[in-house]
Amino acid sequence: MTERPLYDGPGTVLRITKHGEKVLKTPSKNVDFEALKPDLDDFLQNMWATMYEVRGVGLAAPQIGINDRIAVIDVRPNGKSDRLVLINPEIILREGAMTDEEGCLSLPGLYAKIQRHQKVRVRALDENGKEWERTGTGLLARAFEHEIDHLDGKVFIDHLDMVRRLKVAGVLKDLKKTWN
Ligand code: NI
Repeated sequence: MTERPLYDGPGTVLRITKHGEKVLKTPSKNVDFEALKPDLDDFLQNMWATMYEVRGVGLAAPQIGINDRIAVIDVRPNGKSDRLVLINPEIILREGAMTDEEGCLSLPGLYAKIQRHQKVRVRALDENGKEWERTGTGLLARAFEHEIDHLDGKVFIDHLDMVRRLKVAGVLKDLKKTWN
């Protein structure tokens, strides 16, 4: 039995940049929506195609090699698609704390328990340039923080303390041999 693809749109699946590449460490710049507009549809289709291909729940532009403040998220609540486009996003509220296992498409194979906020409110522009705000809890809150971290040049293991970071360093070294 073959699984139904999550996405059958026109996008192109792109290579995902990996931990250690400069683009992931560089803070991204806010974009000028009007200037971006002509290329935005293609850009977003490629983001969706790339994210769904590897069954991710979020993808930030640096992960396809571009330092623009754009990310896409679909945590598929109740198994249904709920696509969010985040252009120039900012976190306007953070509350509570939760610790859960986290991974990243740019560090494939690595998972670690990371503390995040339980509730996160984001303001951003959507694909039409319209401002939206939304409060996420649980996995959506985690995705908001994780993807916006990417736009700030950070990855999830940057949240580990020194002891735990040293522990993952060995694992990372071996994993890196399997990355493309
Ligand atoms: Ni990530």
